[in-house]
Amino acid sequence: MPDAEPRTLGFPLPLPHLRALWARLSPRRPLEEGIALEQFPFNRWSPPREKDLQRDRRKALAEEKALAKLSAPFKTSRQLGCLSGAPRRDGEPFTFAVLGDGEPGRFWVFRKLFNVPGVFERQLRAVQEHPVDFSIQLGDMVSRGIMRNYLHFFRTLGGVGVRRPYLTVIGNHDRLSPHHRSNARLYTSAFGKTNYFFDHAGVRFVCLDTSAHRLTRRQLRWLDQVLDTRATKVVFTHIPPASLRRWTDFGKKRGIGGFRHGAAEFTDIVSRRQVSRVYLGHIHAFGVQDHKGVRYVLTGGGGSPLFPSGVSDRFHHYIVARFEDGAIRETVHTLEDGAFEVPDSPVVFSP
Ligand SMILES: [Fe+2]
Repeated sequence: MPDAEPRTLGFPLPLPHLRALWARLSPRRPLEEGIALEQFPFNRWSPPREKDLQRDRRKALAEEKALAKLSAPFKTSRQLGCLSGAPRRDGEPFTFAVLGDGEPGRFWVFRKLFNVPGVFERQLRAVQEHPVDFSIQLGDMVSRGIMRNYLHFFRTLGGVGVRRPYLTVIGNHDRLSPHHRSNARLYTSAFGKTNYFFDHAGVRFVCLDTSAHRLTRRQLRWLDQVLDTRATKVVFTHIPPASLRRWTDFGKKRGIGGFRHGAAEFTDIVSRRQVSRVYLGHIHAFGVQDHKGVRYVLTGGGGSPLFPSGVSDRFHHYIVARFEDGAIRETVHTLEDGAFEVPDSPVVFSP
């Protein structure tokens, strides 16, 4: 709700519900959400003047141009081009970095209570110091997928000076509305496709879109096909399947932190295809568990607020994973307490 800064009013609205009300009535809303102006029920007390609409259209166009310019270097296709420009032989050792959620919190009260500003930038800058072949961000880069937030995010990337190929997975907050049916228009215009895969050093990496809190049959078919390879396989996705209840339960609310639709099929597919790792975000914490023979790594501590959740290991961190001799080994780099290795021994919880 408080994402909708009342800038066009020219004075602050102190209460979140008033700000949300203004967001719904603002003439900028149809422009941000792609609603046809004729279909939009404008503020019934004072319809917008044509002059104001024209000003907002000009502003929206200028912002679209700015986003296109700022995001151009970070398009997935371009980053994959950089990665393939430095190829490796099949089986050759290499490292990659995984960085979880970075959005600062959607509601001002949670930002005040839990957010530590600048953590995402600090960790992303630290990632650049590792000799990784690429880094991947596991989604929730922005608190809500609106233009202002994406512009700020790309300016942050530019300020950090990202030198390693930088890939992304879409998170629910990167869509227009994080918890309701909504579009991913700004993510796709900035980065490209939300489901994609690439091969590097004989390893197949799959980035899967769970940002709508579900996997469709079409996505599951696609996933099954792209995992049909003898290569070592790694999957990156934002939301954990609800069946990983150690992470997705919150109090008595079972599985609330995960996606349900398609979850059982997903865990079956990655198990049958013998995927080596599934990296997940969304829950701002760290964890490892082996489920149906697949190792799942929760790494949601990229810089977002460490909200209370069902997971006790909540700290800011990123992972550097090394692929060598057909195996992957992770080192967790924490913001405050140094680094530690993730042991190979199985971590299995009761269902
Ligand atoms: Fe999320």
